[in-house]
Amino acid sequence: GHGTIKLYEPLSKHTTMRVGGPAQFWAEPETEEAFARLVRFCTLNEIPLFVMGRGSNLLVRDGGIRGVVVHLARGEFKTIEVKDGKIQAGVGVKQKELAYAARDAEIGGFEWLEGIPGNIGGALRMNAGAMGGETFRQVVSVRFVDPHGNFHMKTPAEMDVRYRHCGTLEKNFAVSATFVGHPGNAEEIEKLLEASTHKRRTSQPRESSAGCIFKNPEQCPAGKLVDELGLKGTRVGGAKVSEVHGNFIVNDGGATAADVLAVIDKVKEVALRERGIQLETEVQI
Ligand code: EPU
Repeated sequence: GHGTIKLYEPLSKHTTMRVGGPAQFWAEPETEEAFARLVRFCTLNEIPLFVMGRGSNLLVRDGGIRGVVVHLARGEFKTIEVKDGKIQAGVGVKQKELAYAARDAEIGGFEWLEGIPGNIGGALRMNAGAMGGETFRQVVSVRFVDPHGNFHMKTPAEMDVRYRHCGTLEKNFAVSATFVGHPGNAEEIEKLLEASTHKRRTSQPRESSAGCIFKNPEQCPAGKLVDELGLKGTRVGGAKVSEVHGNFIVNDGGATAADVLAVIDKVKEVALRERGIQLETEVQI
């Protein structure tokens, strides 16, 4: 149940951007109870605790992360179950696995999750969205652990949900959620899945990245802005603004977190100077 603990686990191995220093302690609990105990222990002893999902929307600094980094991707956290047209999934389930489970059960509305590299926990934590879909629009309830290790269940209306934001999950830790879609048929769903794959393959880069770097500001999509400002290809070390999509920074192999942060700063500076737009990062740093 306690799972494994490792020392100085390199987080570049666990982030899609492939940068970042080590975790002081890397824990992979296998049960919700073991995780709740760990949360409680860390709170009582003032040990920093950071829950990391698939690391797909995360920029870890080169110095690494002090304290315990918890990876919820084993045992109970990987369960997924379809019941009465609803899907219950642990936070360690990949978003694309949810999309495929929905297709198999002929439940529509989950197709947009197909191309997202993250897991359910990450999708909930930041109310992830793509292709017109948004995580919390399909959530019925979320089960989570508070900092004292107690379990709770809430509906989206009780969770301070906004664009790429969930207030409740800033200080609490989701362990599972129940989702709804609408009745669909396998053929229709398959078509939507393919359309989503196609859009992603043709409009987004394939190199290592953390997905979109900036939130879309009110004025216009961040990628379009970066494009119009002529910033595609802007490079520091091994990190550069993608030539395919302006809101992606890609790692061409040798990037450090400092390189990525320097590219972010450059883009922000130009957007502010030229357009008066204050870009905000969408990736967690
Ligand atoms: N555009 C450009 N140049 C570029 C990039 C985009 O002109 O270099 C234009 C596009 O032609 C389009 C508009 O900007 O007219 C918007 O682009 P896109 O359709 O790619 O959507 P986006 O707003 O840039 C959002 C999400 C993505 C998600 C896509 C797909 C945000 C910040 N991003 O991107 O999410 O995959 O929609 O629907 O909301 C992510 O969250 O990590 C992410 C990549």
